[in-house]
Amino acid sequence: MRQVTVTEHLLLHQKESPMATGRFTSMLNELILAAKIISREVNKAGLVDVLGLTGEVNVQGEAVRKLDDYANDILIYRMERAGVLCAIASEENADVIEIPENMPQGDYILIFDPLDGSSNIDANVNVGTIFSIYRRKSNCKCGATLADVLQKGADQVAAGYFLYGTSTMMVYSTGRGVHGFTMDPSVGEFLLSHPDIKTPGTGKIYSVNEAYWIYWDEATREAVSYFKSTDNSRGKPYSQRYIGSLVADFHRNLLYGGIFLYPADMQDPKKPRGKLRLMCEANPLAFLIEQAGGKATDGEIDILQIEPSELHQRVPLFIGSRNDVDKVMEIYRKHKK
Ligand code: AHG
Ligand code: MN
Ligand code: MN
Repeated sequence: MRQVTVTEHLLLHQKESPMATGRFTSMLNELILAAKIISREVNKAGLVDVLGLTGEVNVQGEAVRKLDDYANDILIYRMERAGVLCAIASEENADVIEIPENMPQGDYILIFDPLDGSSNIDANVNVGTIFSIYRRKSNCKCGATLADVLQKGADQVAAGYFLYGTSTMMVYSTGRGVHGFTMDPSVGEFLLSHPDIKTPGTGKIYSVNEAYWIYWDEATREAVSYFKSTDNSRGKPYSQRYIGSLVADFHRNLLYGGIFLYPADMQDPKKPRGKLRLMCEANPLAFLIEQAGGKATDGEIDILQIEPSELHQRVPLFIGSRNDVDKVMEIYRKHKK
């Protein structure tokens, strides 16, 4: 077998990087193992009793699915034992998860969305796990606090996702390009399949839940109209694609070029700042898209420059091909005047 495995890639590709330490590699390996276990369960969903709701509602006010819970538990269980983390934060947990005192600690912080797109799971549609990694800034040997976790996206040291699709993929970046690996189930390894992914400067796809048109402000309507019209830089309408799993919509647009939009819903009091979460969804994907030559904004400023004030803060998100995101920003600026 001459293909490059993800561990080998990490060691070779990041040779001069501080990320090439054994500690960072062992953290990623632990994360990979957790994702393999989640992938196995997702694959047999429908055969065993893992579909449907748990009956609980999470901190976001959303119904928790059994697989959300399963993925969250596996990730927390494995990662708190990895010996390299000082804190974990999950979409499914209200507060920062401290590493138990009897476990070895490190100075990395891991934030994740254990199962993104989980409302699609019962219909066998792609879902994924999104992760974001920071380093603790304070030197204290005590447990990490919320203040340690609330860093801006530009400070991420690595980010990525696992996509449980027709095949299981891992896409990650440590700030040296974006690299994609496809799981070979016969050997149980992620093998390099998409080295140094670059997203096209202008895309041909727009992805948005257009049913919320009624809630949008004029700027958002004009931006979406731009992608639908013949009066755009392509001279023809973009294609519309929307899976409803951010990670899957993002992955397709990353490879083909395009823009994903989840604007603020101005008239829906439940979503005045959009739906997607800054720390566990927008930041990691923004880190990846910038590494791939694209861009991510909330309409005004770069996602990676937003100083978070809350763990579960939501943010409008426009992410994808650079020229398409710039166009949205231009339209927003015009409407602000
Ligand atoms: P999650 O399953 O982690 O709660 O995330 C769901 C998100 C995201 O994956 C997707 O882009 C978005 O919800 C879809 O929302 P709408 O149904 O409002 O379009
Ligand atoms: Mn999600
Ligand atoms: Mn989720």
